[in-house]
Amino acid sequence: MSATAEMPYFVRPSVNLNTEEKEVAYSLAHAAIAATVGGEDNEVMKMATVNSLLKTYLPYYYWVGFYLVHGQRQLIVGPYQGTLGCLYIDFGRGVCGAVAASERTKIVADTHVLEEGKEHIACDPNSRSEIVLPVHRADGSLLGVFDVDSTEEASFDAVDQRWLEQILRDTFAV
Ligand code: SME
Repeated sequence: MSATAEMPYFVRPSVNLNTEEKEVAYSLAHAAIAATVGGEDNEVMKMATVNSLLKTYLPYYYWVGFYLVHGQRQLIVGPYQGTLGCLYIDFGRGVCGAVAASERTKIVADTHVLEEGKEHIACDPNSRSEIVLPVHRADGSLLGVFDVDSTEEASFDAVDQRWLEQILRDTFAV
């Protein structure tokens, strides 16, 4: 099945937040995640819970999920919420593949200006801006990447990056 621009009944267009609203929403989400999975050690359970709680508090999260290191230099889709995600992404391909290779966070204000198939992989044409972060375990190994997409331009900034880096560290590097 190929991706279409039609939006399924279970997802809504994103609503951007200003800085103050983001700080409040992330602070609540961070507390909810810590209260729910603090002390737990199953990675799949924690990934599913992080997706659910962040999507609940942040109204511009259209697609949210994890791509996991798979074999030598490939990612495989992990727990996510949203429309159908690509199953495999090679290291170096698209935003997720670039972040897996560099292990550094990337923020894209407008995915439409990126070269399709190389710099960006459009699993869903409704995705317009995104943030992708590396996810590390306590031993420093790379678990995968965390990808959030919005239907609006420029939804993500340094506030998202700071909170998400903290949430991912507190949840998976323990
Ligand atoms: N955003 C990605 C592809 C994954 S989907 O958006 C779910 C990328 O270009 O890396």
